[in-house]
Amino acid sequence: CGITACIADGDVVDELLTGLANLEYRGYDSSGIAIDGGADGLSVLKRSGEISTLRATVEEEPPSGGIGIGHTRWSTHGPPTDENAHPHIDCTGSVSVVHNGIIENHEELRTELSERGHRFSSDTDTEVIPHLVEEGLADGLDPDEAFRWAIGRLEGGFAVVMLVDGEETLYATRRGSPLVLGLDGDRRFLASDVPSFLEYTDRVVHLEDGDVVAVGPTGYAVTDADGERVTREPSTVDWRPEDAERDGYEHYMLKEINEQPNALDRTVSGRIGNDGSVSLSSFPPGTFADVRDVQFVACGTSYHAAMYAREHLIEMGVPAYTFRAGEYATAPAPADEDTLVVAVTQSGETADTLQSVRHARDAGARTLAVTNVVGSTASRECDDALFIRAGPEIGVAATKTFSSQVAALSLLGERLVEDVTGEPSPDRAERGAALRRLPADVQRVLEDSPVAKLADEYRGRDAYFFIGRGVGHPVALEGALKFKEITYEHAEGFGSAELKHGPLALVTEDTPVVAVFDGRHGEKALANVEEVRARGAPVIAVAGEGSRKVREIADEFLPVPDTHPDATGVLANVQLQLVSYHVADLLGRAIDKPRNLAKSVTVE
Ligand code: G6P
Repeated sequence: CGITACIADGDVVDELLTGLANLEYRGYDSSGIAIDGGADGLSVLKRSGEISTLRATVEEEPPSGGIGIGHTRWSTHGPPTDENAHPHIDCTGSVSVVHNGIIENHEELRTELSERGHRFSSDTDTEVIPHLVEEGLADGLDPDEAFRWAIGRLEGGFAVVMLVDGEETLYATRRGSPLVLGLDGDRRFLASDVPSFLEYTDRVVHLEDGDVVAVGPTGYAVTDADGERVTREPSTVDWRPEDAERDGYEHYMLKEINEQPNALDRTVSGRIGNDGSVSLSSFPPGTFADVRDVQFVACGTSYHAAMYAREHLIEMGVPAYTFRAGEYATAPAPADEDTLVVAVTQSGETADTLQSVRHARDAGARTLAVTNVVGSTASRECDDALFIRAGPEIGVAATKTFSSQVAALSLLGERLVEDVTGEPSPDRAERGAALRRLPADVQRVLEDSPVAKLADEYRGRDAYFFIGRGVGHPVALEGALKFKEITYEHAEGFGSAELKHGPLALVTEDTPVVAVFDGRHGEKALANVEEVRARGAPVIAVAGEGSRKVREIADEFLPVPDTHPDATGVLANVQLQLVSYHVADLLGRAIDKPRNLAKSVTVE
């Protein structure tokens, strides 16, 4: 879900709608705004469906006012209906609230409030908040006190912004969900994410968990839960507004696929010496000398980047494990002060991943976030952070952040190998050179890819399988994930060795198999391709351009520049991104906003 809010000298309807459109990628099955129109009281407009539906409603009955809140919702409690869309209001219609996260004790609160005569009009957990505030106000508290009192009754993780009729102040707080303040002279914003207001300002105040902020016409005040003033300095984010625009591309996803050379350049620049030595300013040599084992925690695409990173570590003798954060969050692996827990998360806000970090910290482990978002919760909660510098990613399907995560993790991996084993990787210079060349190699893949011409031939099949070994395995999983996310076709990824233990039963002439070769597993990888060819399946192979044998046995060959195997996977993945993109485009899918998915999942 996404939160936006604005207070300004003039009318803020445009700012709210722009903010919502910019946040649509966080969830988009319904949206709404509340504006204080002065003598007319609060206007609350909300609609299920895309933000364009809300915009049409706003144009029919244009509200106006200099203070307002908005929300784009991705359903967790209750289906995406007009009633369940935010903002939610109290019985009197004067308290309106938008909320991200989950209120765990909402059922008890709802029962208690209903017994006291409150009538609810939605199925959401959020709606208890305005009703609680209403009680506080009825008891004589002022809005600030009533807000604090209501928030004090909530259990769970959330970010909340409140607008009360006739009050020239927005009240907001965060506990476990992101919330930032944007400053643009007399115009002030609150949002769950910086891109919401990036075209207006790059001056940002990152709020901390427990902060309560009151934003009024002349300034803002941040206090802790007890009402004590705290100082939160503004900083300038280095994302440019045009980074968050489509720039003539039909979809953000295609733009972001094409941005990978630049993104990778930023990720690696200044961080690798000519001999392949790594220089990471926050992690000088010896930083990890005390680490015994590494546990990666991540979800979705980031999990695949973590799997990719693990390959190098285990090959070099550094014990490393990957965990799906959702599982680690409920059943954490044993960890102690000798364990480094690495949270891989492009947004830095994924609830399962944050929960994993908290478990790790409680167990005494050292924690490190690998993330794209400076100031994100993961970057602040972990002991250390490594920023991947990919720039804002708007398309729900992660593309450039995967490549930059892999590159950043590769740098971190080399530092770990050297610190933990006392020796650099024997092929450090070649790995380093391949990483430095990666932006140019990705550019070549983008320029020469035959995928756009092939997509038509392979659409509309029964199912699609993706297989690979070594780093080809996470790339196969990532290829399948991307494919299902945006084409809605059935796709599965497997480690090639697993194929014969079950999935082979599904392989037919109508199930294309995409095979990813990392250049390391020659004969065995070829044998797996023969297994599927024997069942008549068309084989689309992605491999180094010099792989003669692969070229011979595949029905389609997607070449990538020959390079170090650890870089080959990133290049192969770019071809797979294009496969998913072009098939989805031919099928007319909502590529940037696939159904049921959100870019950042801030609930467990
Ligand atoms: C969601 C997104 C995925 C993403 C995953 C993890 O499921 O749809 O694209 O990979 O969250 O996100 P994170 O921000 O932690 O990398």
